[in-house]
Amino acid sequence: MNRFTYLYLLLAVFFIHACSTTNTTEQDDQDREVAEQDQRPYQEEIDSLMAEMTLEEKIGQLNLLSSGFTETGPTLQDDYQDMIADGNMGGIFNGFTVEHTRDLQRIAVEETRLGIPLIFGFDVIHGYQTIFPVPIGETATWEPDLIKEASQVAAEEAAAAGVHWTFAPMLDVSPDPRWGRIVESAGEDPLLNEIFGEARVKGFEGDDLKDLNTILSTAKHYIAYSEAEGGRDYNTVDISERMLREIHLPPFRAALDAGAGTVMTAFNEYDGVPATGNQFLFNDILRGELGFEGFVVTDYTAIPEMIEHGVAADEADAAELAMNANVDMDMQSINYVEELPGLIEEGKISEDQVDQAVERILRKKFKLGLFEDPYRYSDYDREEETIMRDDFLELALDISKRSIVLMKNEDQTLPLSREEVNDIAVIGPLADNQYDLLGSWSAAGEYEDNITLLEGIRNNVEDNTNITYAEGTELEFEDYTTDGIEEAVEIAEDADVAVVAVGEGRHMSGEAASRVSLDLPGAQEELLEAVHETGTPVVMVLMSGRPMTINWAEENVPAIMNTWFLGTKAGEAIAQVMFGDYNPAGKLPVTYPRHTGMSPYYYNHKNTGRPMDPDERYTSKYIDEENSPLYPFGFGLSYTTFGYDNIQLGSDEISKDGTVEVSVEVTNTGDYTGEEVVQLYTRKMVASVTRPVKELRDFEKIELDPGETRTVTFDLDAEQLYYYDKDMEYGIEPGEVRVFVGTNSEEVLEDSFTVR
Ligand code: NOJ
Repeated sequence: MNRFTYLYLLLAVFFIHACSTTNTTEQDDQDREVAEQDQRPYQEEIDSLMAEMTLEEKIGQLNLLSSGFTETGPTLQDDYQDMIADGNMGGIFNGFTVEHTRDLQRIAVEETRLGIPLIFGFDVIHGYQTIFPVPIGETATWEPDLIKEASQVAAEEAAAAGVHWTFAPMLDVSPDPRWGRIVESAGEDPLLNEIFGEARVKGFEGDDLKDLNTILSTAKHYIAYSEAEGGRDYNTVDISERMLREIHLPPFRAALDAGAGTVMTAFNEYDGVPATGNQFLFNDILRGELGFEGFVVTDYTAIPEMIEHGVAADEADAAELAMNANVDMDMQSINYVEELPGLIEEGKISEDQVDQAVERILRKKFKLGLFEDPYRYSDYDREEETIMRDDFLELALDISKRSIVLMKNEDQTLPLSREEVNDIAVIGPLADNQYDLLGSWSAAGEYEDNITLLEGIRNNVEDNTNITYAEGTELEFEDYTTDGIEEAVEIAEDADVAVVAVGEGRHMSGEAASRVSLDLPGAQEELLEAVHETGTPVVMVLMSGRPMTINWAEENVPAIMNTWFLGTKAGEAIAQVMFGDYNPAGKLPVTYPRHTGMSPYYYNHKNTGRPMDPDERYTSKYIDEENSPLYPFGFGLSYTTFGYDNIQLGSDEISKDGTVEVSVEVTNTGDYTGEEVVQLYTRKMVASVTRPVKELRDFEKIELDPGETRTVTFDLDAEQLYYYDKDMEYGIEPGEVRVFVGTNSEEVLEDSFTVR
């Protein structure tokens, strides 16, 4: 090659490279624009609308007030309708039904200068009017696809009744059964909260928010609300950043990836700063790392609560903190309406900050199609046709059966035989009780629609079966009597079986319903003991929103069904399971401790330097109670039995981005066709930071006929095992990983492999 040819070639290469660089840059710009448009649609419409808005009208968009009955707080603004007319309102919550939402929307659209429609929010947590099991119960199905369908139904009903936006799903990983809101969670495990959070978001939001059977969802409560000290609601939280990132953030990341359009601030503090004014949480992590483009709403009056927290001197101070954390919408305190104009005048915050918040809220209103037709979700015919449709009720029944966890079944007490059981005594304060079946947060659910256990049993027996009923005692902490126990004993004495429904009332879990004791309230255990004394076999039906210390029952009662609060179809579902029309397969998404004093109590704990040893005093344990769980995480029986055998790993060694195949043989060793949730856990044996003794990595629900064996295979990616090392680097260090596969978190087969 001569000098000229070489130069020529060099120039040619340079030219081609320059052209391709230009092209790539142009292409990049175009791609970026498209991506931005995808993420920020309706920009032109928003810009031209905002150009017309006064500062007061803009701030009005950041205001969200309750229109009616509210479960959660002290302040109720009587003049909210005037505020709508004055253009001081962006949204209303707790306002539902077509009639009510049309009335309020009319004020916004017809009486304000710009006619910007309101957004209507509501706590549609486990159904709108067709009520599904409470979230902890839904999670016990271990069937996220089914729970996605339940959320779709909830969205379709809500969207037909004027509601645009639900304050769900709750993603708080909940390790403490004293905390009442555990009922709204997917339990104590991060992976379950991730998977079920994602399913619920997809169910609510669907493919396009404009579809009339979808609503906007809320990832809440951001963040770590469930770590309240002592399990006392609204209490202080003090956790490490490692815990924040490993336990609490993953469900939020999953929910946002699934498309959750809004995020709600938590009441608690993180690292000394209340979440609602916490710039690290919102600016750095949520908007920065997670790239969240939707809007953030506060929890109920959380902005002025920063005064009580002691980080704001007054309301103005609180508003400034919240605005600087990019918190867009103020729920229920009218703090932004009152304080932002002054703060802007003083130059403490900029109008640009307000503009950004307004833009984020307006974008959702455009996405919902509210500017095309503000009444599109409020259609009388659709409301009439949609609410409690037959197929919705059928799904509720199916999910209710699948949520039931069989906790004990000595001598195959269950299923009951319709032929052999001729006399059934139905006993207990929850036996003929429609009201409590709704559970906490029941949206537009009407308790009169619920099928009680007594009714369910009546519907499911032969005509000549004799059914008697006695309440026994009341569902109260204090004002209860024991007078009814005698009658309960009398009917039990004459019966072939006594079905005793005990537990908590619907408001004994949920918000502001923390307990110091997980025991059955009132005289319910006394009732249970008295009925058991008769010698008639007892089937205990437990209803509650949290783990309960039912140690006596576990020792003495032959059969226990854990039924949470199952909602509209409760009684029917329980009866069908009781008589064997459906073989129960639910598994616990939470650990049941033996004593309240063990709380918080969760399976994925650290090993400590002195792991519990029952025979060694100086180990990590309590001296006045057995230290094992009453029921472990992942536990649940079936009318059949399953055997696990032959755990196999595809390789002994994998790289940091490799995959190992884990397989196990599962056999139905009993007499009924049944479903089983096969669970996969791991433990990193040595790392630069301490690791949990077990972490759920995957699961699969399978159905097997009697005698049938199936090989279940999981592809376990090293990436699923990543954690933050001592330098907060995310990844996995070399060394042994132990693998466990089994029917619950304790009964497992194990093997191990090495990460290179
Ligand atoms: C307070 C609760 O913490 C939150 O979850 C709920 O969405 C709001 N109140 C609105 O009812």
